[in-house]
Amino acid sequence: MRKSAGSLLGVALLMLFVITGCSGSVKEQETTENIVAEETSIDSYATKKIGICIYQSSDNFMTLFSQSLVEYLKSQGFSEDNIFVYGSSNNQSIQLTQVKELVEQNVDALIINPVNSSIVSEMTDIGVENGIPLVYINREPGAEEESRWEEYDFDVCYVGCDARQSGIYQGELLIDIGKDKLDRNGDGVIQYYMIEGAPENIDAGYRTKYSISTVDNAGIKMDCILDKVANWDKVTAKLVIQNGLKKNPAPEVIICNNDAMALGALEAVEEAGLVAGKDVYVVGVDALPEAIEKVIDGSLAGTVFNDFITQSRSAADAAIRYIGGDSNEHYIGCDYIKVTADNADTVKGWIENLQTDIQPN
Ligand code: GAL
Repeated sequence: MRKSAGSLLGVALLMLFVITGCSGSVKEQETTENIVAEETSIDSYATKKIGICIYQSSDNFMTLFSQSLVEYLKSQGFSEDNIFVYGSSNNQSIQLTQVKELVEQNVDALIINPVNSSIVSEMTDIGVENGIPLVYINREPGAEEESRWEEYDFDVCYVGCDARQSGIYQGELLIDIGKDKLDRNGDGVIQYYMIEGAPENIDAGYRTKYSISTVDNAGIKMDCILDKVANWDKVTAKLVIQNGLKKNPAPEVIICNNDAMALGALEAVEEAGLVAGKDVYVVGVDALPEAIEKVIDGSLAGTVFNDFITQSRSAADAAIRYIGGDSNEHYIGCDYIKVTADNADTVKGWIENLQTDIQPN
């Protein structure tokens, strides 16, 4: 068993959030001879421990995701005292320390949102060596690592969406607005800003690539006049765009890899005297509650729902199956949903209903 080199340091660095518990009921009980499904008290999970690491606790989308994950685990019978949620400060050595700490706490499963893909194999090895199943979320580890899980039949899987779909949907949102409206200066080409999430991040890469190729394939010419990384963050995106507007004051479209950055873009353009949804069209991804409101009021041209509810519940269900001795597919997918002014109210209603309607399995 691997020991943590810096227990005390690790403890100081960990961000632990306290959570509360509730009850329900689950099925599945094993006998010596046969596996017989029978009603069992949900208390069977009350002593099981789950360790969760989120790459950065200030990330708006991952905050929704982890809250949903915790709520769902509680609804399935896990105790508040046994769900350990750590924010990894976007730092790979902090995350590795946290994983080792969680192993020392004898967690029954780990749910990890990796800081980056290069540390995933080490985290997998730690889990496998200690007999702890792992569910990776949100940041896909990569083909080589995933084929290892398959080859050696590791109790390791990934839960997430295919970011190509979100990029395609962003492109379709722009196509549906129509070239005539987008091309405010009438020069036949759409001048755009691209605001990217993070370097070497698969979601950022695919959203950047597929949003543009989708518009290109529809025969609408695009000209990139600014392409910057803003770390998925509203304030950073606002600053980047404020600077961009000094040199290139007339973007017709601003494509953001997520909604937090799109919300920053809206503030920047509005403070520069442009009317979002008329002078410049901004699109995002995630469908954060604040972004849905902006779609409803017409300032955000559209977003794409990154279904944190389904993803978090699939991740919890996968961990529960591993804990119960069952296996999982190594890749568990989920679909994105386009959000426009036409369906924003409906999507808002679904999200609210899903959040309040948690049923025990
Ligand atoms: C994306 C999400 C972003 C950010 C990122 C972190 O899927 O759209 O808002 O949370 O994950 O990796």
